[in-house]
Amino acid sequence: MTNTLLILPGDGIGPEVMAEVRKIIDWFGAKRGITFEVSEDLVGGAAYDKHGTPLTDATMAKAQEVDAVLLGAVGGPKYDKLDFSVKPERGLLRLRKEMDLYANLRPAQCFDALADFSSLKRDVVAGLDIMIVRELTSGVYFGEPRGIIKEGNERVGINTQRYTESEIARVARSAFELAKRRGNKVCSMEKANVMESGVLWRDVVQEIHDAEYPEVELSHMYADAGAMQLTRAPKQFDVIVTDNLFGDLLSDLAAMLTGSLGMLPSASLGAPMANGRPKALYEPVHGSAPDIAGQGKANPIACILSFAMALRYSFDQGDEAARLEAAVEKVLADGLRTADLMGPEGGKPVSTQGMGDAIVAALDAGL
Ligand code: NAD
Ligand code: IPM
Ligand code: MN
Repeated sequence: MTNTLLILPGDGIGPEVMAEVRKIIDWFGAKRGITFEVSEDLVGGAAYDKHGTPLTDATMAKAQEVDAVLLGAVGGPKYDKLDFSVKPERGLLRLRKEMDLYANLRPAQCFDALADFSSLKRDVVAGLDIMIVRELTSGVYFGEPRGIIKEGNERVGINTQRYTESEIARVARSAFELAKRRGNKVCSMEKANVMESGVLWRDVVQEIHDAEYPEVELSHMYADAGAMQLTRAPKQFDVIVTDNLFGDLLSDLAAMLTGSLGMLPSASLGAPMANGRPKALYEPVHGSAPDIAGQGKANPIACILSFAMALRYSFDQGDEAARLEAAVEKVLADGLRTADLMGPEGGKPVSTQGMGDAIVAALDAGL
């Protein structure tokens, strides 16, 4: 089966970190015989600049056809004043929605070499390995009505949190399936104490558990308490399943447990396609980082680990994904540090390119 990839570097540091992923893709082709038919296109501000839209219909159609989309990041101050309908972020949201990528997997793993770099104490984070499963195609991000309306003399901003049973059930199944292959524990987070959508969320997750996954340990937590527990004792968790907005917040929080937002990858998965592979988009959790764009400072590891997730979840190459993850672990253990990872304990400073090259060298050394 050929492996097709659509690369959408996007804006800011997106193209910089994606250039390093390209080196990794080339390495797997040359040294492991895993080849990809790669095409590249524009998304976000880059697409807006050229076409007046953050995602053209042609790019959308291409994304629907490939085995996996790899995305860098979108957005930036240049586009902040644009109408909502053409903002760079809309391009990403359209991809997620139209590909129906309902399960967003955001693993937070603390590499031992970075345990002292986390803002939390070493023993709180060392060995951390949790998976946040964020619902990605519904909830307050997409619910109607929405907009800014006029009510008398003032403007009112409206967004609607809305979840159907089936939307909750399918993401719950993704979480239980993942848990079975990990620590066999799921914690579901919502605000059932104040939101009806949270009450339904809790009920449906419990029903799916009781009917289909009684062997998995399930707990429920209010999302605010969940945020507190994630910083107090994050290792109590295995898989966390939560809605679109809470998942957005909690995964940035979890990123910092690992040392830097520049470390956290993600996979957004939908239903299986005709070839059995799931609809899939892989992207780092971080954004376009306008404050460091163009300076060779960006950490490419989140994007490189997102490609490792693609190897695992789209191309059935779990061993090769582990090989890449081990190479990342090796360069971190060797003390290589992009600027975001430089703490008082020091390390060997490297640029974005230097980090990519070192990971390629570590892959070579591992053969
Ligand atoms: P951000 O993630 O871009 O940056 C937050 C902080 O983390 C910045 O200080 C940045 O320098 C740092 N950082 C992020 N990634 C890094 C990396 N790989 N290496 C080193 N440091 C890194 O978030 P923001 O500043 O809130 O948003 C900037 C823009 O990105 C906005 O337009 C936002 O909408 C967009 N955004 C896009 C995505 C995406 O494309 N998936 C995700 C989040 C934010
Ligand atoms: C993320 C980002 C996006 C989100 C934005 C850029 C649309 O923050 O992927 O975490 O809010 O989902
Ligand atoms: Mn986010």
